[in-house]
This record gives sequence, C-alpha cells and structure tokens, in this order.
Amino acid sequence: KNIAIIMGGYSSEYKISLISGNVVYQFLDKTKYNGFRIHIFKEKWVYVDDNEAEFPIDKNDFSTTVNGTKITFDCVFNAIHGTPGEDGLMQAYFELIGMPQSSCDYYQAALTFNKRDMLSVLKPYGIKTATSYYINKGDHIDTAEIVKKVGLPCFVKPNKSGSSFGISKVKTEAELPIAIEVAYQEDNEIIIESFLDGTEVSVGVINYQGKVTVLPITEIVSENDFFDYEAKYQGKSQEITPARISEEMTQKVSEAAQRAYEVLKMKGFSRSEFIFVDGEPHMLEMNTIPGLTTESLIPQQAKAAGITLTDLFSNAIELALE
Ligand code: DAL
Ligand code: MG
Repeated sequence: KNIAIIMGGYSSEYKISLISGNVVYQFLDKTKYNGFRIHIFKEKWVYVDDNEAEFPIDKNDFSTTVNGTKITFDCVFNAIHGTPGEDGLMQAYFELIGMPQSSCDYYQAALTFNKRDMLSVLKPYGIKTATSYYINKGDHIDTAEIVKKVGLPCFVKPNKSGSSFGISKVKTEAELPIAIEVAYQEDNEIIIESFLDGTEVSVGVINYQGKVTVLPITEIVSENDFFDYEAKYQGKSQEITPARISEEMTQKVSEAAQRAYEVLKMKGFSRSEFIFVDGEPHMLEMNTIPGLTTESLIPQQAKAAGITLTDLFSNAIELALE
C-alpha cells in the first residue's frame, strides 16, 4: 500500500513536523507499506524522493507523477502540527476527496485546535480547567479586568497554536500588553489562563487495535519557568514515564483523558495535557497531531507500553483503512 506521509505545514511548528514526518518515514513497516514523503507548504505541495527531488502534487486527487507514471495513495499519515494539518483544513480536504487518513475528522481537529472552544465543550462532562479570559485582535484590553479574573501569575497563549509558540508566563499586570502582542503573532485569538500550580502530566490516548487505550502517563518537570519550546525540544526538561503520581491521580487523569477522547468522538492519536491542583486534574489542551520526534512524548509513552514505533504507525494506518 502507498502511504503519503504529510509534513511541514504553514505554522511556526513546521520544523518539528518535518522531524515527526521523517520519523514516521523511517519507522514505517517496509514489508507492508511504501512510504512517500509529502511536503505541504504554502508555496508548494510536493512529493520528495530519497534524492530530495521534488514532484508536484495534483490537488484534484492528491496524486503525483514521477517520470510519466502516476502515483496514487491508499492512505495519508498526517504529521503536520498546527495549520493546516491539525486544525481541520487538511482533514476536510481528504474527507472531500475520499482519502483515508490517520488523524481524527475535520470537525474534531478544528474543535480541539481551538483551546477555548474545546475546553468549553468538555466542561459539562466534569473536566476541570483553569479560569480563563479570552480576547480577539482589535478588542480593547483592560489589564486590570484580566488580572481581576485570572489573577497573577497567569499564562497568555495564542488560542490556536502548538509547541508553546507565543506563550508567556506573566507575573505583573504591566507585562500583559507585551505578552499579548507576542501571542498575537501566532493567532488573532488569545486565551489568558490562571496559573495552575502543581504537577504537570501528559496523557496519550489512542485507538490501539480497535480499543481506546490510555498510554503510560508522562510527568513533565521543566527547568524553565514552564514547559516552553526550549524545554520541549532542547532538553530543558525532564520527562518521566510513568509519572510519579499516586494510583488515585493516575486513575483520575486517565479517566478524564479517555472521557475527553470519547466525548469528542476522536479517532487516531491524541495527547492531552493536565496540571493537578489539590489532587484534581485540570485540562490545558489536546493535541491531535502530537509530536513524533524522538524527544516527543507519544513515542516515549508507546515505548513504555511496549509498543514499537513501527507497530504504532501500522496501527494508525490499519485503523484509517478500516
Ligand atoms: N504540538 C506539538 C508538536 C506536540 O503537541 O507534540
Ligand atoms: Mg500543544
């Protein structure tokens, strides 16, 4: 079967995506699948062969032509973090052209990529969250009102982004306007959240061989002020799997992550982040195209569960093809 591994994308996360996509390519089960690396950039959609030669993708049917021979794909493996791979745009395109894909559907992708909207959908199901304040580009900014609502310190985040791009921890009211400017560079919506002071964990939930499965939980201990870009990808954090949390906490957070997966009717991969406050998990976000680099958490969690990357990727493809 021909598998199109899509990577790149239009957001600040494109470099991480290229690494994720190449990991998928490297570990794909060569006895079952032919992998094709497809770069999705604003300027070009191209198939890139092992000699780095590029062949344009025909957007009518997502095919390519190499030396006069047309190549079509049986399934797409999506490794694009951020837009347009994680926010529903690519998902909708593949649904339209009838192409099986490893990720969730377009609606789930769009909803989960929007932190505010996803958390508000999950709240009635008992999923706890930080207190938050939401603003749009052009809105009048009343820093006193923000501080009154969320307190200090607080987190200023682009509402739709990943890998901690544009996120600041703000300690004084005077720092708010700059943090808001920084976040607006990533998105025109901003969510400002109260600081949750507690153990941070990351919970992978996948459909494994037809069953919703919670992977071993990772505890995140950042050397920086929070789990920022440097902490995520430049070793400035300790990631401990399984997390050093009580049985009861493990159960609570597993249950919350699985509930979120089921309530949202997710498919494929998900990795949700939580912080414990007074023993209760508070949800920050869900990633539907979680990082697959060797530093990333899902690969670490799969390993702890005894699932090889090759099996993990084959599983995602087989479920997509069902
Ligand atoms: N957004 C990054 C890639 C992650 O969730 O792992
Ligand atoms: Mg994220």
